[in-house]
Amino acid sequence: GMISDIAGPLAQFTSHASWPTLIAAGFASFLALAVVLNVLQQLLWKDPHAPPVVFHWFPVIGSTITYGMDPYKFFFANKAKYGDVFTFVLLGRKMTVCLDTKGNNFILNGKLKDVNAEEIYSPLCTPVFGKDVVYDCPNSKLMEQKKFVKFGLTNEALRSYVTLITAEVENFVKSHQAFKGQKGTFNVPKVMAELTIYTASRSLQGEEVRNMFDSSFAELYHDLDMGFSPINFMLSWAPLPHNRARDNAREAMIKLYSSIVEKRRSGQVKKESHDMIWHLMDCKYKDGTPVPNHEIAGIMIALLMAGQHSSSSTIAWILLRLASKPHIIEELLEEQKSVLGEDLPPLTYDDLQKLPLHAHVVRETLRLHAPIHSIMRKVKQPLVVDGTNYVIPPSHTLMSSPGVSAQMPEHFANPSVWDPHRWDAGSLNFEAAEDDEKIDYGWGVVSKGTNSPYLPFGAGRHRCIGEQFAYTQLQTILVAFVREFRLRNIGGEEGVVGTDYSSLFSRPLAPAFVEWERRNKEN
Ligand code: HEM
Repeated sequence: GMISDIAGPLAQFTSHASWPTLIAAGFASFLALAVVLNVLQQLLWKDPHAPPVVFHWFPVIGSTITYGMDPYKFFFANKAKYGDVFTFVLLGRKMTVCLDTKGNNFILNGKLKDVNAEEIYSPLCTPVFGKDVVYDCPNSKLMEQKKFVKFGLTNEALRSYVTLITAEVENFVKSHQAFKGQKGTFNVPKVMAELTIYTASRSLQGEEVRNMFDSSFAELYHDLDMGFSPINFMLSWAPLPHNRARDNAREAMIKLYSSIVEKRRSGQVKKESHDMIWHLMDCKYKDGTPVPNHEIAGIMIALLMAGQHSSSSTIAWILLRLASKPHIIEELLEEQKSVLGEDLPPLTYDDLQKLPLHAHVVRETLRLHAPIHSIMRKVKQPLVVDGTNYVIPPSHTLMSSPGVSAQMPEHFANPSVWDPHRWDAGSLNFEAAEDDEKIDYGWGVVSKGTNSPYLPFGAGRHRCIGEQFAYTQLQTILVAFVREFRLRNIGGEEGVVGTDYSSLFSRPLAPAFVEWERRNKEN
């Protein structure tokens, strides 16, 4: 029978102790020894000046799997066990996590001589963005580049973007195959990824880039994006097919952006829009040098990447959350009608400031679904953690997760409930608080965020400069969707999908379908 068929050769195999068996046995005992030594070291060797280490069986692997599957579950479980400061092993690296407002402030507002971002992010980002921008240059140069972008996002520019984004959304909901007919279902994360690429490129990137997204650009974008596969945290240099495709795509993209710039400079294209390419063409570093073409390209690629993942995941979560509470969609429509008029005139940038519930929907969604769950910095010299006697050595990486304080019951009542109205009273408006400190790193005055438990855009010198653009884009898409559709979970069920943490940016687990129905029947 079956069993003896297998047992026969197996018995033979073991009794003769062949080479493969010996090697396997040797490996098994080596592994066992490594596990025992690793466990003993954790139990016997406790340095009072080092933060507690998250218990793990295997060296190198450490907590990689539990952290990777659900970072927030991992952070909260270990916060309960070890407190706000602890170290865990991630692919052989020692990561020291500092949580809650003190931890956020300690890491994000750390001094340049103490903590460093580019050493961590450059291996991943430089092959995608190209040379001399963002993390492939001194921090002072990044600060200037952030200034260029921040100052390019003027009210006038944002005003023009609202019109362009609205036009893109209206065209999309009319012509996309997911929205054929009067009602149906659509895969929210997938369809929203496509829409945000059109809205962001049409506004921030300009007409040429937008038009290329219907053809050559989409594939290049995809290949470039593969450069952010998590495996690249270790192997971004490796001559693997996806890295070769990334390198080719980057070179092709830099050429495309450079040719756009050249064509504009030659006077063949009139300056009629407020896109970022036009703005960067006029920018000069403090020493007087203009921004070279490959740097304009690099900055534009960085903006494309930074904006795309964060915004497309956020708008997907917004629609998924709304589909699970459809009455809020009706409230949003009511807000538009009562503020802007029953006839719902074309949306303007100034209108956005008058629609608080729309802003609160975005704000509340970012509280529970901030796209960036872990922010990292390399320790540059032995560092005492504020308020403790722990000293973190330079071999460690610091990890901050502002999403943790945003989900703590000490800061937000019933933290796991998605409720945009919790922001109504204004008591959670941390940036308006009296003790809120301001600071300027060279790209405009921002809140230091020292005491705020709500930092979805980070804090300190690496803080996001895309916040206004992100809000403008997200709210504009939201306004258009609310006008066009009713949404609900399939069959009117409750709840939302879980989070996919497998890429660098967290996003809804796909596929995630919801039902849509057009409001306007004669469409
Ligand atoms: C930095 C979040 C949209 C451009 C950051 C950081 C966070 C963040 C947390 C800090 C990272 C760190 O400290 O290591 C978000 C969220 C967004 C969003 C939640 C949307 C919902 C955008 C958009 C753009 C953008 C639309 C571009 C137009 C940048 C840039 C940085 C940054 C240039 C600076 C990186 C640095 O200084 O090292 N963002 N972002 N972001 N973001 Fe955003």
